[in-house]
Amino acid sequence: MSNTVIIGLQWGDEGKGKVVDLLTPGADAVVRFQGGNNAGHTLVIDGQKRVLHLVPSGVLHEKCLCIVGDGVVVDPKVLIDEIEGLKSAGFLKKQAQLCISEKSHVIFPYHVRIDQLWEEKRGTNAIGTTGRGIGPCYEDKISRRGIRMGDLVDSKALKRRLAEVLPEKNEYLEKVLGNKTPFSENEVYEQYNTYGRYLKHYCQDTNGILQKLVGEKRSLLFEGAQGVGLDLDHGTYPFVTSSSTVSGGVMTGAGVPPRAIDEVLGVAKAYATRVGRGPFPTELHDATGEHLQNKGAEFGSTTGRRRRCGWIDLFWMKHAVWLTGCTRMAITKLDVLSGLENIKAAVGYQLNGKKLTAPPSRIEDWEKAEAVYETFSGWSENLEKITRFSALPKACQSYLKAVEDFVGVPISLISVGPERSAHFYREA
Ligand code: GDP
Ligand code: IMO
Ligand code: MG
Repeated sequence: MSNTVIIGLQWGDEGKGKVVDLLTPGADAVVRFQGGNNAGHTLVIDGQKRVLHLVPSGVLHEKCLCIVGDGVVVDPKVLIDEIEGLKSAGFLKKQAQLCISEKSHVIFPYHVRIDQLWEEKRGTNAIGTTGRGIGPCYEDKISRRGIRMGDLVDSKALKRRLAEVLPEKNEYLEKVLGNKTPFSENEVYEQYNTYGRYLKHYCQDTNGILQKLVGEKRSLLFEGAQGVGLDLDHGTYPFVTSSSTVSGGVMTGAGVPPRAIDEVLGVAKAYATRVGRGPFPTELHDATGEHLQNKGAEFGSTTGRRRRCGWIDLFWMKHAVWLTGCTRMAITKLDVLSGLENIKAAVGYQLNGKKLTAPPSRIEDWEKAEAVYETFSGWSENLEKITRFSALPKACQSYLKAVEDFVGVPISLISVGPERSAHFYREA
């Protein structure tokens, strides 16, 4: 197998975790390269549901090396809980199966508090973050005040770094955000030093490991978190996350050269969802939106929030395919569309009566952009047991062909239910 990047083409929760799990048997390693525990990647196997936030979604396959790369922000408590949960379920039997980059940045409780208090302060303009401290941790990284995993696992370095950073954080929290209870340097140190001692055994030079794997021509999967619509530069700024969710993020976040990547697999739902605030031109506030919400069980895997639902946005997806160099697509949740009389897909945007040639840059334009639709016939058949493309209802086949024609890359994998087994590859 070749080295493949898995990227969400929409606003996250496309089913990336399931796709990574499906492709893992052909891979030697799965690598997370950005984001943190804002991600929630769901795997359902024989009715047993498991949501992963930091550990790569290949972990259920014993032989697969799982790498949390340099560009990830790591909440050590969440990671330890996840490791313990996996171990007690009989996974991650060998410590060597999981490697955490010593360059990854650590999320501290002050990041979480800053994230939450900023959201409160923004009031009706809140972004609707996951409240996990992701943005504030990346802010510290960019401003070169971050504490990295390599510092966390070294007691002296941790003490020194906290002594430099914490007084400033307490002052900022109190003066800018009105926080009344400062963090005690000693308490944070004691608690995080314990986490550091636990994680020390997993902490490694992951870039060195990747250099070796690439040199040996091993097969790698790079597991994206979030989606292109949430990319810091290319998404619906400021309603985005704080990392590069496009395939370029692999180069910076895992530290591999572009020529090490062979394929980019874009994952998209057969409709669209978004959690948190931000523009969503195809959003539905009617019975069809309710159908998607209920049938698709659209609640956030990380925060449990209700996901906003709407029609698939092919105009956006075509742009996301360009941004990521996507070579093929996986379409998930096709089963959820069964039972709708007609299905719509956005094939363009209009702004102030004019057709746009690309999605807008400015948030004011995003908020005014109106989707232009093409309408397709629906189907009523249940798809969950279907195992080949030619067995799909004809209307469903036409819909999928229209998706790949518009977006310009083939669909190679189709998912028709949450279970691992509910999927098939496209016949040649
Ligand atoms: P990720 O963040 O991209 O990994 O996606 P999430 O796990 O947050 O959200 C996807 C949700 O859809 C999860 O609850 C999955 O179990 C579920 N899911 C994945 N594929 C399918 C599918 O083909 N059909 C249905 N009905 N559910 C799916
Ligand atoms: P996965 O990997 C869906 C959204 C939040 C919010 C915005 C910023 O499971 O697809 P943040 O906490 O990152 O600062 O929040 O990004 N968001 C996601 N939405 N899926 C995700 O991850 C998300 N991670 C962040 O809801 O709108
Ligand atoms: Mg998710």
